[in-house]
Amino acid sequence: MAGLTLAIASASTSLWAQDNTQQGDPARGQVKAYTCTGCHGIPGYNNAYPIYHVPKIGGQNYQYIVAALKAYRDEQRQHPTMLAQAGSMSDSDIQDIAAYFVSLTGSEPKPEYFPKGDAAAGEGKIQLCVACHGADGNGIDPQYPRLAGQYGDYLVKALQDYKSGARVNAIMAGFAANLSLEDMQDLAAYYANKPGLIDLKIE
Ligand code: HEC
Ligand code: HEC
Repeated sequence: MAGLTLAIASASTSLWAQDNTQQGDPARGQVKAYTCTGCHGIPGYNNAYPIYHVPKIGGQNYQYIVAALKAYRDEQRQHPTMLAQAGSMSDSDIQDIAAYFVSLTGSEPKPEYFPKGDAAAGEGKIQLCVACHGADGNGIDPQYPRLAGQYGDYLVKALQDYKSGARVNAIMAGFAANLSLEDMQDLAAYYANKPGLIDLKIE
């Protein structure tokens, strides 16, 4: 049995870079996260206006969840609900909540069919993305968000927001600047169909 455990541990290390930065207490996070699950715990839930899917955070990287909540709190990302949610959080609230979400299990969703994009064409456009997000969309390091299995329409929305400057990030602004809407849709279709993020099971 010990040999088996070792084999699994090393397999997961090589698949996903190890995240040694995790802080926060999942039990405290669960209490603080009770408002989140109404949107992030319901597979297929939509943002009201404009209409796009509420992003999956099940299976997302701890470091990235922390960075995303800070970006809303510090208004580098504009979204009224998420600002309302994150606006009054301390750094330790954010760490607790992120620790809670990464502790959850769930089920692998059906690959998302994203009719606006062409996944095969998208595969031909990923050269600029693989250095950070990987060819499979699971990221080469936990600071990068997992794109694999994310909703296609949300990925397009994120890329458009980087391009327009509505979402402030120096790295992604540069990569999104030269993408057409069609490129964004093709890339989104490609990454949305990869296994990665999961539908959360929240009890
Ligand atoms: C009313 C619905 C709603 C509620 C409640 C809500 N969210 Fe969100 N959340 C969203 C939407 C919509 C987005 C995408 C916004 C955007 O386009 O930037 C989002 C984005 C996020 C992201 C970034 C995901 C990514 O891939 O970048 C994280 C992390 C997140 N929410 C965590 C939380 C947490 C933690 C809570 C509770 C404290 C919460 N959300 C409550 C709707 C909601
Ligand atoms: C040099 C590293 C790097 C490269 C190359 C890169 N990205 Fe990113 N990407 C990032 C980082 C860092 C973030 C998180 C930024 C933030 O906090 O908003 C990100 C965020 C994203 C997001 C938002 C995810 C979410 O959950 O909100 C999408 C979509 C995305 N990248 C797509 C792409 C695509 C498509 C390409 C290729 C055209 C690409 N990226 C190239 C580093 C990179």
